[in-house]
Amino acid sequence: RPKLPQYNSIDDAVKLLQEAKNIIVLTGAGISTSLGIPDFRSKDTGLYSKLAHLGLSDPQEVFDIHVFQEDPSIFFSIAKDILPTEKKFSPTHGFIKLLQDKGKLLTNYTQNIDNIEGNAGVLPENIVQCHGSFATATCVKCHHKVSGDAIFNEIKEGVIPECALCRKRIAEEGLKLQGVKRKRSTNYQQKDRKKFEDSSDEDDYEIPTPGVMKPDITFFGEDLPDEFGQRLVHHDRELADLVIVIGTSLKVAPVAEVPGILPRNVPQIYISRTPVSHTGFDIDMLGDCDVVVSELCRRAGWDLQHHMIPAD
Ligand code: OAD
Repeated sequence: RPKLPQYNSIDDAVKLLQEAKNIIVLTGAGISTSLGIPDFRSKDTGLYSKLAHLGLSDPQEVFDIHVFQEDPSIFFSIAKDILPTEKKFSPTHGFIKLLQDKGKLLTNYTQNIDNIEGNAGVLPENIVQCHGSFATATCVKCHHKVSGDAIFNEIKEGVIPECALCRKRIAEEGLKLQGVKRKRSTNYQQKDRKKFEDSSDEDDYEIPTPGVMKPDITFFGEDLPDEFGQRLVHHDRELADLVIVIGTSLKVAPVAEVPGILPRNVPQIYISRTPVSHTGFDIDMLGDCDVVVSELCRRAGWDLQHHMIPAD
């Protein structure tokens, strides 16, 4: 994406902020690291650098839907560490709320699943959780949906949560199943009956097991929530007059493609510790995002909450 030549300096960024009416803010894990929540790809501190003990060929497999289907225990071994328990918010979350208060926030597309935007007071209707969230969980077998916190205790205790509805159905089916066994064995020839009854091979019967409850965070190999594409392409693309990308390495598609999908004349600002080379922004502000947004607000004459204020 060729740079728009008229934008270069911090003051250009401030002017853009002051004039914009419909800002898309695209965020990643970097906006929560100041709260002690690790990002994913930072070299020594990111979550992926701490997963060597899982023995995966690529630590991202911990969020791979096929790996989950094969062995959900891998995901649940780390799930307790990424549960949204934090009640605070960072100055950068405060900055997004400030844009909302000023009527400038079109949408915050967040890849984060920590729900901290809500702690800062960003309204649900202004947020698209591109990678889902822990707010709900769904049974991988019968697709029964529950509120996410219904399985938080099991996750915290390191137990793989199973579907209560599947369990209930299985209990109800239990008697019928015994009936099936009797019925099937009576169909056997007398000589086969003993073999059948003695068999320890579970494949002789269909032993039902309850489905695992998977939190509705978007795994690699799964579709993003419909709202992501719908809102971006059919609503926000027309309206956006400024894009601010904060604290993301932009390594994961399709979110990484958002800057390229937006019209070329919409200015784009990048705020993060690490530069990205695969897409060009008009203004790059490299550094700690809390510091950068605080400085932008100071220059704009806006009053940003500087402290990490507990939500309650
Ligand atoms: P990454 O860990 O890939 O990128 C975070 C970026 O934020 C890096 O460029 C850091 O340098 C930067 N950063 C960290 N702390 C910062 C700070 N205080 N100030 C400024 N910059 C800071 O995280 P994401 O880009 O969010 O998906 O990762 C995208 C997706 O990959 C996640 O949603 C997750 C992951 O796999 C799924 O699990 C499906």
